[in-house]
Amino acid sequence: MFRFDPYDPAFDADPFPAYKVLRDEHPCFWSEEARMWVLSRYDDILNALTNWRVYSSAKGNLIDEFPGRAGSTLGSSDPPRHDRLRALIQSAMTKRALDHILDPARASIAAHLAEVRDRPVFDFVNDLGSKVTVDLLFHLFAMPRDQADEVRDNAVLMVQTDAETRQKSEKHLAAFHWMADYAEKLVQERKQNPGDDLLSNFITAEIDGEKLLDKEVQLTVTTLIMAGIESLSGFMGMFALNLADYPDARRTLVADPSLIPDAIEESLRFNTSAQRFKRCIQVDTELHGQTMKAGDFVMLCYGSGNRDERMYPNPDTYDITRRPKRHLGFGGGVHSCLGAMLARVACQVVFEEFLKAEAEFSRVDQQLPWVPSSNFRSPQILRLARG
Ligand code: HEM
Repeated sequence: MFRFDPYDPAFDADPFPAYKVLRDEHPCFWSEEARMWVLSRYDDILNALTNWRVYSSAKGNLIDEFPGRAGSTLGSSDPPRHDRLRALIQSAMTKRALDHILDPARASIAAHLAEVRDRPVFDFVNDLGSKVTVDLLFHLFAMPRDQADEVRDNAVLMVQTDAETRQKSEKHLAAFHWMADYAEKLVQERKQNPGDDLLSNFITAEIDGEKLLDKEVQLTVTTLIMAGIESLSGFMGMFALNLADYPDARRTLVADPSLIPDAIEESLRFNTSAQRFKRCIQVDTELHGQTMKAGDFVMLCYGSGNRDERMYPNPDTYDITRRPKRHLGFGGGVHSCLGAMLARVACQVVFEEFLKAEAEFSRVDQQLPWVPSSNFRSPQILRLARG
């Protein structure tokens, strides 16, 4: 009998065969292990994403949700509340705010590349990707550097789930509370001393004369730190992994860096770090002969939709010239990733510099340690050897 267990560490090593069985044989599947429905075909996922009245986020979008988070951040609320939060944050995420990160991103990756220059083997995730994303986020929010390590460690823990208990354990909950306290202090401090940074922009942003409440700013900052550090660093790890595994693609990018944005889009399709998110069914819904009842949870497998042969020809081929239309790497609908533009710009700059310095490399370990997470998939360590 087919089982679908997103908590099984073996599943993260290669989730794609299981996704294919789901798409072909069980397109609307009840997973006993996850205690929720699983949707795996591109069209079904897109339909769910564009139909928030049926597929609600208000009970949380994380597969294993933190108590108190549901309903209070933009990722875990429905319109109209969601739209108000989103509009206010978007008004702060201007092109000008993002332009500010280009030079610091370049300087950060150059500095961390210099640190690994003399080593025959380096760990892309911990020596480069994670350090650059921390630098970027601290720069964007103008956060004091003294607690950078703690912020990073807690952001990493927040995306994890205990594979045995299939829940957030004490250490994950403690990380969430640590981050909420940290964000609260940061917001209070910034209200006293506003500057020209993204956080100050959030605090002062207004739409129709209305500002964000302190609690909203605090929980949103908590989410932005988690997403900003872990989603972005996780994706950079996946992109580096693709470039190690597909040397022809890498050499093409080294020869013509203007193709890096196309390669980023293909990696977001091929193996996005944000693999699965959750919704809650609002009205009994029939799909592929199954009835999802109001109140049931449903898992949307973006990583599977992106490999759906009904949408993309030869979906298991990594092809940097593909330019995949409307991939689900950043989700879609009202909740599509708010950091997408930032993530694209940051990845482009970082990988331009990275490939300039490191043109030839291969991965050292065939078996990778994957971040234990029901939502995300990225390596915890990615050792690369030159040559
Ligand atoms: C390449 C890196 C990233 C990936 C792959 C990614 C992926 C995603 C995905 C799939 C969603 C949709 C979640 C859902 O359907 O419930 C999402 C939402 C979101 N992301 Fe990202 N993300 C990335 C980077 C970032 C960054 C850098 C930030 C901010 C600094 C960010 C902030 C957000 C926020 C705030 C939402 C919620 C949007 C809403 O509900 O309206 N993300 N992201």
